[in-house]
Amino acid sequence: MSSAASEIKRVTTHQLHAMKERGEKISMITAYDYSMARIIDAAGIDVILVGDSASNVMAGNETTLPITLDQMIYHATSVIRAVKRAFVVVDIPFGSYQSNSSEALRSAIRIMKESGAHGIKMEGGKEIQESVTRILSAGIPVMGHLGLTPQSIYKFGTYSVRAREGEEAQKLIEDAMLLEELGCFSIVLEKIPAELAEKVAEKLSIPIIGIGAGPRVDGQVLVMHDMLGINKEFNPRFLRRYADLSEIITGAMHNFIDDVKSGDFPSIEESYWQKKEG
Ligand code: KIV
Repeated sequence: MSSAASEIKRVTTHQLHAMKERGEKISMITAYDYSMARIIDAAGIDVILVGDSASNVMAGNETTLPITLDQMIYHATSVIRAVKRAFVVVDIPFGSYQSNSSEALRSAIRIMKESGAHGIKMEGGKEIQESVTRILSAGIPVMGHLGLTPQSIYKFGTYSVRAREGEEAQKLIEDAMLLEELGCFSIVLEKIPAELAEKVAEKLSIPIIGIGAGPRVDGQVLVMHDMLGINKEFNPRFLRRYADLSEIITGAMHNFIDDVKSGDFPSIEESYWQKKEG
């Protein structure tokens, strides 16, 4: 291959580790479809997460629980078609891994085989140890997810900050150490105190990616629809908005509607004619 495409070096788990070692922060963002993934990848993002937040921002569900394995694979397949450089991680959805480790392995294999993803992400620590071990043994890279774990929302009851107290904080540290020991290549820490996230990032040699976990971790992830201002109802403290696409799209729609109603669109030049005008 001698095309420009052959010169694009794919991000690997090895490179993510090296980035942590040299203190280079890792950028990660969610994507769920081909067109957005293409733009994000070309912009140079390091990791794309096909998050089960698709359940919220793509399907309009209140929680991440309803999304199915088939739906996650559909989103992941669309993203993978677009991506030339980023490492693509896919959330293993609620209900596709909790029964036992055989089910977990089957689901992980389906994601990898049918979508072409590069790794999977799983919520939980000690309680999913056996599943993580079997998935890793199959050669599938696993990213952990601790702190606020949205698949357990009905157990916790709120989306408030997690692990503020001693016992929960201690369990989080132990879970993070266990996930590293098992062989996870990275861990997402969601909505926990910054000091705790810093402690975990210092203790572990694998990259710690934060969302609402403060600045002293190895990288940051945001949900694309939140940071681009498409979904403006969600306003947690940790969210920085980088665009107001909702306003831009609304403006464009108003202009289109006005142009159609007034007959201004399409123009002579924007139409096909049997005979050339004039
Ligand atoms: O599903 C998702 O978007 C996530 C991020 C919040 C990390 O898990």
